[in-house]
Amino acid sequence: MNLKAMLATKPIADYQAEAASKNLVRALGIPALIAFGIGGIIGTGIFVLTGLAAAQHAGPAIGLSFVIAGLGCMFAGLCYSEFAAMVPVAGSAYAYSYATLGEFVAWFVGWNLILEYMVACSTVAVGWSRYFIKLLEHYGINFIPDWLANAPFEGNAAGAIHQTGAFLNLPAIAIIAITTALCYKGIKESAVVNTIIVAIKVSIVVAVIGFGIAYVTPSYWHPFIPPNTGNFGEFGWSGIFQASAIIFFAYIGFDGVSTVAQEAKDPQRGMPIGMLGSLAICTLLYILMSTVLTGLVPFKQLNDAAPVAVALEAHPQLAWLSSWVIWGALFGLTSVIITMIIPQARIWLTMSNDGLLWKFLGKVHPTYRTPHIATVITGVFAATLAGLLPIDILGELVSIGTLIAFIVVCIGVLVLRYTRPDLHRPFKVRGVWFVSIMGVLFCSAMAYSLPRGTWIRLVIWSALGIALYFLYGHEHSRLRASRSKAG
Ligand code: ALA
Repeated sequence: MNLKAMLATKPIADYQAEAASKNLVRALGIPALIAFGIGGIIGTGIFVLTGLAAAQHAGPAIGLSFVIAGLGCMFAGLCYSEFAAMVPVAGSAYAYSYATLGEFVAWFVGWNLILEYMVACSTVAVGWSRYFIKLLEHYGINFIPDWLANAPFEGNAAGAIHQTGAFLNLPAIAIIAITTALCYKGIKESAVVNTIIVAIKVSIVVAVIGFGIAYVTPSYWHPFIPPNTGNFGEFGWSGIFQASAIIFFAYIGFDGVSTVAQEAKDPQRGMPIGMLGSLAICTLLYILMSTVLTGLVPFKQLNDAAPVAVALEAHPQLAWLSSWVIWGALFGLTSVIITMIIPQARIWLTMSNDGLLWKFLGKVHPTYRTPHIATVITGVFAATLAGLLPIDILGELVSIGTLIAFIVVCIGVLVLRYTRPDLHRPFKVRGVWFVSIMGVLFCSAMAYSLPRGTWIRLVIWSALGIALYFLYGHEHSRLRASRSKAG
């Protein structure tokens, strides 16, 4: 073990030189970047998890939970923007950590980003599978038996895993196979499809808000913050915070914009606008939509895998909108999966270029110019997890992995201000101490609220990652090789 190599930071100049290389196509303008962000954000969080969070934890005050989670993301998003504009490479938080906190921390963050992107792909595919079955039911079709549309395993809060009797979640596997094929073919085609889908799902969300508001019963909002039941996290302020940790998942994805920095036409402007713009739009939509939903039915009724449909179907005048919502959710979740596969493949590409992962993960397709092998491997692993595990285990793993990456980025931006004050920062966070500390506090509070079982799984995952680092990355690191040559 070489401690010096573990703490070595990759020079920013190396990243800037990589960014200037013409390996990937610069196809994405600002509207496409904002669409890419929204594509990753609006999905299972708002269409599935909001109902559970409102019914079990926050009540009508669910909008406040969205404000808290949104603030945490906004602080982290500001820090991401400073990095992404300065170091516009595909590796996102992994690359930023390598430049600031050293190789070992970078590896750890990169390993956790697998939870964020690849496992999120699986999580959203499971949500997609539920809506797909609902769509079939809607049209009276029932050809997929339960044992082929559910996970064979489930877990409890303490971390234990049990069998459910089901065999496989086939629709979840199928949607990952389709989206992987799309991403294999190319970023431009994927971005065009993504932009169309984003337009559809934003219209659906706006329609739910616009049509729903006329049928709201204001008395459902009283009391706005239901009194705490005596248990931590069941209503009252502790419930609002607990709900914010659950619906944090709904915001994940805006940071995916930073991973296509090398494919952006003007990353210096595009990164901050793409990330913060998509985040701001979604925060507003989420607060409005969740508040309307709790005004359409008493909040306890939202405890359903398809809460939006439940709220609409309670009003005969709105029932027509419900089938649109199912279609919108299916398209919306598809775009989230695309937005998750793309960053995952690009993070592996960057890690492989750095020598920390095998060379084949860094190969770019000669015709499509996409990291095709990394894309296929992402698809295969994501489909396997989606086929076997339930939405809660997957979703909580995604949240914890992402929160850790966010915390490191918030710290890294501050560290770099002092270690490299000379660097040109096209986007500079104002009040960096405040933003960085608030980002760390908000994200830590949300991570703390996640169940114990999630923390146990994180420890196991991290141990696997550290073992792999010492077995492969530590020995093959390019930075290490270039340093020993120089020294
Ligand atoms: N934010 C994404 C979703 O809610 C991951 O599906």
